[in-house]
Amino acid sequence: MTAQCLAENDKGHLTISGCDTVELAGIYGTPLYVMSEDEIRRVCRSYVDSFQKYYNCKGKPLYASKAFCCMEIVRIVLSEGLDVEVVSGGELYTALKAGAPGERIHFQGNNKTDAELQMALDHGVGDIVVDNPAELERLNAFAKAAGKVAKISLRITPGIEAHTHEFIRTGQLDSKFGTDLQSGAAMALVDRALELENVALTGLHCHIGSQILETEPFVHAAQVMLVFYKEITVRHPGFTLSSLNLGGGFGIRYTQQDRALPYDDYMQAVSAAVFERCAALELPVPDIYIEPGRSVVGEAGITLYTVGNIKEIPGVRSYVSVDGGMFENPRYALYLSEYTALIANKADKGKNFTATIAGKCCESGDLIGEHMPLQQPAPGDILAVLSTGAYNYSMASNYNRNPRPACVMVSNGTHRLVIRRETYEDLIRCDI
Ligand code: LLP
Repeated sequence: MTAQCLAENDKGHLTISGCDTVELAGIYGTPLYVMSEDEIRRVCRSYVDSFQKYYNCKGKPLYASKAFCCMEIVRIVLSEGLDVEVVSGGELYTALKAGAPGERIHFQGNNKTDAELQMALDHGVGDIVVDNPAELERLNAFAKAAGKVAKISLRITPGIEAHTHEFIRTGQLDSKFGTDLQSGAAMALVDRALELENVALTGLHCHIGSQILETEPFVHAAQVMLVFYKEITVRHPGFTLSSLNLGGGFGIRYTQQDRALPYDDYMQAVSAAVFERCAALELPVPDIYIEPGRSVVGEAGITLYTVGNIKEIPGVRSYVSVDGGMFENPRYALYLSEYTALIANKADKGKNFTATIAGKCCESGDLIGEHMPLQQPAPGDILAVLSTGAYNYSMASNYNRNPRPACVMVSNGTHRLVIRRETYEDLIRCDI
């Protein structure tokens, strides 16, 4: 099992936070996302605790809501003391509706629209992370028209290559995100931000990528950003930075091969580097923000399916088809992401079968995974795929007009619906 919330009961069924997954499938239907509130809260607390331990509470974790954005998860992370990072008007709307105060929202994005910037100003978003010079000018003009001063940070591309899938790397020079450090563009952005009257520069931000399983690139990013901070203070004497956001990206365990580090390890290594650099550069230590998404919700989630057709092609492979697919988990189709799966009603049996788990979309690449060890499957079995809490629901679509699944939150043996299953009526709601 990957996550702490998973176990097996005396019926030989997989359980999550004390709930029998086979019963959940019976009550709510499949495909079904199941999220463990206990696990989400445990991870949130470990981040909050590590800020006490390593930063003496100077700073805080934010939840990158793109990993799984729905009102209940936003409520949970807020109640644990995390702020919320959003990247679109839709995520901002969800966070506001879930009760997030504007000042606890951080708004990212490489191409925020005029309407989104306006919305952020209207709701008093506490940290608009400006991506580039053109956005800075637009925001300043809107803030001026509204008679406001927008609190901003600047998204800097620090020029760091993280070892992860190229589609989810973001810190390197060739990136659509942020303003580049090496060329001098980032300093020009700082100069301009300090000139403008309707923005208040409070922070710097970087994010080097996602599903990173080593501490070194995070340490390196912190060092590079602090050197940049020093350069700013030399150029603009008297300037102090309130916050330095070092992004998210902490890797999780999808399979037993993934060597995910305890989050505390990152915190310890990065905080040591921050204090050491600040002392060496004679800088006041800014508040440190981190914005994990995947690690907050990833291992807390599983997806339950009903096994349908099983097709054995002798000497080739065995397809085990399920009632979901790339419309509710596109990550294998996009990144060849690996997962761990098991038959939830046979959790106590050995895995003596190798499956290609196929979805129901009209597309050959619609797979949940290949070469997956499984218990002997049979039609009607409940198949569980583990560590699906991040970037599954949030990247789901209605491809082939499949309704998006429901999501159930489980905690200490109890369960409740937090996102209802879409209906066919929902699918034609916007059709005219
Ligand atoms: N902050 C920023 C600015 C980001 O762009 C991201 C992720 C995060 C924080 C959170 O990173 P995390 O802690 O979740 O790794 N769809 C891909 C992942 C895309 C990540 C995008 N940005 C996947 O399914 O793997």
